[in-house]
Amino acid sequence: MDEAIESLRKEALAALEACRDPAALSEFRVAYLGRNGAVKGLLGRLSELPPEERPAFGRDANLLKRELEEAFAAREKEMGGSGGGDADAVDITIPGRRLPRGHFHPVSLVMDEICGTFSAMGFEIAEGPDVETDFYNFEALNIPAHHPARDMHDTFYVSESILLRTHTSPMQVRAMEERKPPLRMIAPGKVYRCDSDVTHTPMFHQVEGFLVDESVSFADLKGVLSLFITRTFSPDTPIRFRPSFFPFTEPSAEVDIGCVICGGGGCRVCKQTGWLEILGAGMIDPEVFRSVGYDPEEVSGFAFGLGVERIAMLKYGINDLRLFYENDRRFIEQF
Ligand code: PHE
Repeated sequence: MDEAIESLRKEALAALEACRDPAALSEFRVAYLGRNGAVKGLLGRLSELPPEERPAFGRDANLLKRELEEAFAAREKEMGGSGGGDADAVDITIPGRRLPRGHFHPVSLVMDEICGTFSAMGFEIAEGPDVETDFYNFEALNIPAHHPARDMHDTFYVSESILLRTHTSPMQVRAMEERKPPLRMIAPGKVYRCDSDVTHTPMFHQVEGFLVDESVSFADLKGVLSLFITRTFSPDTPIRFRPSFFPFTEPSAEVDIGCVICGGGGCRVCKQTGWLEILGAGMIDPEVFRSVGYDPEEVSGFAFGLGVERIAMLKYGINDLRLFYENDRRFIEQF
């Protein structure tokens, strides 16, 4: 064998033996087996040789090339990586990539929490249609056509007698029509009003609650709502019932809690009053019982309706209602 080939063989095998890491292997490949490597250089010298020596030299050079390639592959395997192909190497010590996880919307979180609190008090959960009839949304709730109370609701009409419900109170009527007392239910869902500014969105969420049985009193209403409020905010939250009016309850009240922002001292959020209104409630009006075929002499009950966004704002200190519906992930991901 040609001396030049033999000496390159020894040199290359020693160099391969000396490789200690993938980077060194990679260098070896370039130096000996690459396009401008030593073995290629050897073959390039073929033309300098006398013609009769060329076939033997060519054969030996090719044998050397194959031998080095095999030795290289074996060394690479020994090192447990793919050597020169660093990019393919698997480094099991690199920390994993975290998959992005979804978040519940703050309105969903608060809705679930409210439902959980009332479930714990034995209330069933019912759902009804967003597209309602005038009968369930108004008529049966003692709000006849031309009643001034209709002004309180900016209604989206689908047709003359079909509309998007303006509150969840129609569920009182639907439930009572279907079932006999005793009833203890909540009805969470979307409601719609033709109104849009800093404190109003055309769609928002309410939870309706009602309890009908024999001799239910205003004290029962007060007890249930007080428990709900102290559970949702804090055990020492101040609560006040303020006389109000709804056509479907008599007497009616609005319920305020001590301002959670300023603690009652007066601030911009509570308009310096120290109180925040969070729900409407009252004893179910005898007219409503009559419209579903209950006898108001025999049964009594209370009802309440609360705004979910409002409670979410107070719980989390959110000062702009529109944030709930912009779907900005920087906002949503905080909950
Ligand atoms: N439906 C009323 C509203 O949307 C709230 C309410 C419900 C009041 C039940 C009394 C009883 O404003």
